[in-house]
Amino acid sequence: MNKVILAYSGGLDTSIILKWLIEKGYEVVCFLADIGQKEDMESSKQKALKLGASKVYIEDLRQEFVEQFVFQALKTNALYEGRYLLGTAIARPLIAKAQIEIARNENTSIVAHGATGKGNDQVRFEMTYLTLMPDVTIISPWKDQEFLKQFKGRQDMIAYAEQHGIPITSTKEKPYSIDENLLHTSYEGGILENPAQEAPDHMFQHTTSPKLAPDEETHIMIEFSKGIPISVTNFAEGITVCESAVALLTYLNELGCKHGIGRVDIVENRFIGMKSRGVYETPGGTILWIAHKDLESLVLDREVFHLKEMWMPKIAQLIYNGFWFSPEMAFLMAAIEQSQEHVEGKVYLTLYKGNATITKRESVKSLYHEDIASMDRLGNYDQMDAKGFIKLNALRLKPVIVT
Ligand code: ARG
Repeated sequence: MNKVILAYSGGLDTSIILKWLIEKGYEVVCFLADIGQKEDMESSKQKALKLGASKVYIEDLRQEFVEQFVFQALKTNALYEGRYLLGTAIARPLIAKAQIEIARNENTSIVAHGATGKGNDQVRFEMTYLTLMPDVTIISPWKDQEFLKQFKGRQDMIAYAEQHGIPITSTKEKPYSIDENLLHTSYEGGILENPAQEAPDHMFQHTTSPKLAPDEETHIMIEFSKGIPISVTNFAEGITVCESAVALLTYLNELGCKHGIGRVDIVENRFIGMKSRGVYETPGGTILWIAHKDLESLVLDREVFHLKEMWMPKIAQLIYNGFWFSPEMAFLMAAIEQSQEHVEGKVYLTLYKGNATITKRESVKSLYHEDIASMDRLGNYDQMDAKGFIKLNALRLKPVIVT
């Protein structure tokens, strides 16, 4: 048995890997995952077939990606190191899971991917493979002696591509590596490797620069049910988008891009140990993360809210490090799921020049009591009680006066 399922992107690297595997005597089945990246999947398929793939699967994973991965992460408010919305980290386990399903379908247990030996993605792919198919055989060319000997640098790859009729021009080589899906676009490597060098504005493929964004605000309302966004309303245009999770995120991306929302430029700590500079644009996701957290502030009990805040960095780390399918993630998600039971209501935001600003919120599950909070009304609150509350809290803080 020598059939291998290759996670194929259509780019130069995976095209070379495809050819290299065939030369090593493998039958190669290519797998193209559609997670909303703006690419011509059909032409990538034709390219793979021309290069000798025996079969090409194109799977539309967009709905599963948004419903089962993006919205799950949203419920946790996960931000890696406080800033990264995990767009790539969330997508990898889904791609790997779908790849394993194809392997089963094709009666093989050999899979291959083109992630380098220096990044997080190799870990995320391979951890998922091993979790879902314990007897899997993983071919990872960037960790293969023979492959590394053959391809010492970019020049070797270009020469090999020319020799084997692999189109180079069509890959439109950019001076950095891009990874794109419905949630985000990431840029790293190449000219971004120097963290002291500013990213060029033309690099951003989707978002408008905030300084070029419209001078007019856009007012929107996002409605949530059980922690999940179910509709977006744009008041000025009289539009409500609620057909599907994909349509909703796509529409928020459109609005976020227009207003230059969701750009971040960070130095992050990779799981394998090194620091890396990453630039991201997550337009719709940023709006959702801001809105969701705001609604939680209204409807969640204080202690539940605070526990979620404490767990958040841990969950973000699990997602980042490739532990999406793990007992600890399942354990934490069970509690998160329970908390979201109450996350229902409407959040109103203003989008303007790089910002998504909350203006108001409302919910039938609100725990906010105007009577109690009010400066003008007594409510059912006896201010005299606060005296003892403070006194007892200060008990152990006060120096003991011995008489
Ligand atoms: N640094 C990010 C992460 O580890 C993005 C990686 C994206 N990969 C890429 N080839 N640009 O999640």
